[in-house]
Amino acid sequence: MTQRGPHERGTVSQLRLDLAAFRDGVLEGAGLAAGDVVVLDVGCGTGLIGFGALDRLGPDGRVIFVMSHWMCSTSAGAPPVATGGAADLAGIADASVDVVTTRSVLIYSDRKASAFAEFFRVLRPGGRISLFEPINGFVEQLRPDDLFGMGDSPVNDLIAKVRDVYRGTTEETTRPMMDFDERDLVGWAVTAGFEAVELDYRAQVDVPADPIWDSETLKCVAPNPRLPTYGEAIVAALTDDERERLDTYMNALAAAGTPTRRTMATAFLRARRPHWHR
Ligand SMILES: C[S@@+](CC[C@H](N)C(=O)[O-])C[C@H]1O[C@@H](n2cnc3c(N)ncnc32)[C@H](O)[C@@H]1O
Repeated sequence: MTQRGPHERGTVSQLRLDLAAFRDGVLEGAGLAAGDVVVLDVGCGTGLIGFGALDRLGPDGRVIFVMSHWMCSTSAGAPPVATGGAADLAGIADASVDVVTTRSVLIYSDRKASAFAEFFRVLRPGGRISLFEPINGFVEQLRPDDLFGMGDSPVNDLIAKVRDVYRGTTEETTRPMMDFDERDLVGWAVTAGFEAVELDYRAQVDVPADPIWDSETLKCVAPNPRLPTYGEAIVAALTDDERERLDTYMNALAAAGTPTRRTMATAFLRARRPHWHR
């Protein structure tokens, strides 16, 4: 999830813990070693992975932050970066990179197989890739009607209306997030020519998780950067009275510290470009 806006309450710290775990998983999967100099962080966002890599590299190490065009255009004053899509790293020379990292980026790309081919091209022989992706199709398949991890509740009717706002999002926006799973990630890595391909998959269904967020905090959050915030979806879906009913119910749960139910699937993948072409 992505938090927008300045609000931060206690439960948002769980989001930070999750992000730290994803970052550490990617960086540990990358196995950064003394001989590694150049890390390419594709779809760097605010630098969660890239800055983490800098901390782990030696004094000669450098990280190339690759921003997507649309992200770059909203980041005036940002440090120098390469721009491009995951599937088009044209500014990066062949075999010039020791490690490619990426987190929650392929999920937005329509050209995931091409992205793997580009990662392979820019890596030196023996170079590694380490990535993390959420497998959103899993949640859609198992818990299509849940939204805030509340399970069955007296506000099911309101949740259904808010969910419909997201269902109405253009197919072009949502398709890349839903049209793949962990087996595809492995297949694309193998097809691109990688060896030593390993994937760690974790699936959770209705697992008790941190308490529900109060409604004001929740409204600043979007399920991902391409979708409206929950606040925007609530305004679009509900009348004033309905919004009040939802707020009252959610805030009572938050005050009681009621746990949420987490349904999520995630995949970490790591692989190596062979030292020799077969
Ligand atoms: C959820 S954020 C993750 C950011 C960062 N990797 C991190 O770990 O915090 C998704 C990022 O993917 C980038 N992105 C989306 N589509 C992309 C594409 N086709 N190629 C490269 N980056 C892309 C966006 O600009 C955004 O920064």
